[in-house]
Amino acid sequence: PRILILGAPGAGKGTQSAKITEEFDVDHITTGDALRANKDMDISDMDTEYDTPREYMDQGELVPDEVVNAIVDEALSQADGFVLDGYPRNLEQAEELKGMTDLDVVLYLDVDEEELVHRLTGRRLDPETGDIYHVEYNPPEDPEVEERLEQRDDDTEETVRERLRVFRENTEPVIEYYDDQGDLERIDGEQAPDEVWEDVKATIEDAA
Ligand code: AP5
Ligand code: ZN
Repeated sequence: PRILILGAPGAGKGTQSAKITEEFDVDHITTGDALRANKDMDISDMDTEYDTPREYMDQGELVPDEVVNAIVDEALSQADGFVLDGYPRNLEQAEELKGMTDLDVVLYLDVDEEELVHRLTGRRLDPETGDIYHVEYNPPEDPEVEERLEQRDDDTEETVRERLRVFRENTEPVIEYYDDQGDLERIDGEQAPDEVWEDVKATIEDAA
């Protein structure tokens, strides 16, 4: 299936996408991970304010559309089934995506804003496996894993607040855009991860 997963920063897109790729054998296309792996890529030949993605990301701003559209276009051309996470983030990107592929299901993980701040400031990542943890909600059992956990550069409270502002301003209209087309599957993202997963899985199975 061709799956789009929408949600605010910290809503659980990465957490659920990991389960989706395993269950449905699709590629995980995530603009955030792709950009983090290329944070110092030289984008100065594009007409951008900064020379690399890093400046945008560390401030919680959107990386210019031109850069991100190219990443998604390339990844989609190589994928059969996919779960797309982190894109589109504004209406221009949504229009762009429409020209690149059809979608079988559009999921929206709905989570309240204060909960998002708590999730993001407590998030930790395993640099070896990419697994996502939380200091309170989902700590690793293995002390060796616990010791190597890292925090994302943009998970400071200040940057988190800015990311949420950018989400409200730029990405909420994208949620409305899919909702207006009658395509949006709203899922209660405040439930425990396994309960969210049950809803996500059932929704994809219904659509496929
Ligand atoms: P990106 O990497 O996409 O970050 P984001 O959208 O801010 O989302 P996150 O990855 O922070 O959250 P998530 O929803 O994946 O949550 P997770 O599962 O990890 O983008 C980063 C930056 O890249 C952007 O700011 C921008 O600069 C740039 N960028 C990316 N795409 C772009 C685009 N299209 N255009 C322009 N710029 C772009 O979970 C979070 C935490 O909560 C974890 O600790 C987890 O364990 C916990 N958790 C998850 N689910 C639950 C649950 N149900 N209950 C309790 N805890 C939970
Ligand atoms: Zn993510």
